[in-house]
Amino acid sequence: MENNLLSTNVAGLQLENPTILASGVLGYSAESLNRVAKGGAGGVVTKSIGIEPRVGYPNPTVVQAEAGIINAMGLPNPGIDVYAQEIKFCKTLLRVPVIVSVFGYSADEYATVAKKAVAAGADAVELNVSCPHVQFTGAEIGQNPKHLAEVVEKVKAAIGKPILVKLSPNVADITVTARAAVEAGADVLTAVNTLKAMAIDSETMRPILSNLKGGLSGPAVKPVALRCVYDVREALPDVPIIGCGGITDWKDAVEFMLAGASAVQVGTAIGLENPEVFQTITKGVEVYLRKKNYRSVKEIVNLAHRS
Ligand SMILES: Cc1cc2nc3c(=O)[nH]c(=O)nc-3n(C[C@H](O)[C@H](O)[C@H](O)COP(=O)(O)O)c2cc1C
Repeated sequence: MENNLLSTNVAGLQLENPTILASGVLGYSAESLNRVAKGGAGGVVTKSIGIEPRVGYPNPTVVQAEAGIINAMGLPNPGIDVYAQEIKFCKTLLRVPVIVSVFGYSADEYATVAKKAVAAGADAVELNVSCPHVQFTGAEIGQNPKHLAEVVEKVKAAIGKPILVKLSPNVADITVTARAAVEAGADVLTAVNTLKAMAIDSETMRPILSNLKGGLSGPAVKPVALRCVYDVREALPDVPIIGCGGITDWKDAVEFMLAGASAVQVGTAIGLENPEVFQTITKGVEVYLRKKNYRSVKEIVNLAHRS
């Protein structure tokens, strides 16, 4: 049932509440995405899918950090041709928008995967141009405004669904890449992907991850992600933003919305067992809105920018 207090619309994506599963944190299957939707998520993003199957990196691919985790999974995925069946299955099971995360090694590859994802039923695509641990698809595109614009333009010409561009925090000025993405046709910016990081074992005296470096997520990144959303909003007053990075409770979600996000993505906080985190966050946001006498979650977006 529609809850007017919490429902929102992000570039045409109708969400019953402003929480969305972040890409990659759960498995790929329609069943696991459906568990999250039933746990209260207003939308889901799939794991990033490429043109060909990829096995990813050998273990260890995840290591615990002080207030989060560092992962270098290596973008394991079955390839879009196989995954298209799962997207179709998602569309029969889930009652919330299904956003397919896409990666590639060239603008043409991104466009091909995006087109196939939309043909299979994706409600939108999120371009992962910011994976910090796979060569030639993350930093090389997401940190280079020219390459980023090329990718977005090609995808825009290939599909008629909303395009989310997932920005990297691993840049000197996030507004430069944000602007390039929007000028090339991005409908929504997701801010942000993981921060490049590493862990070293003092006993073995070696880096822990098989890939040596990975991406940090969880509460440790929240203040950085929040600042990214704030900066992007200051530079681009009109583009819809989805906040992502360390969001764990309702207060985090509210802070991201005050900074400029219309909705938030939640990843690490789910752990592996707790899809109910979405319900807990939305309930908290609802109580907050009532307490402050707002009639819609949309009313608090950007409020931290008032002078
Ligand atoms: C294990 C793991 C796998 C991830 N895989 C992807 C992925 O395939 N594509 C992507 O765009 N982001 C991926 N991410 C990044 C998350 O979607 C999110 O941007 C990041 O974790 C920050 O949010 P969080 O602190 O709520 O987890 C992954 C994160 C984790 C922890």
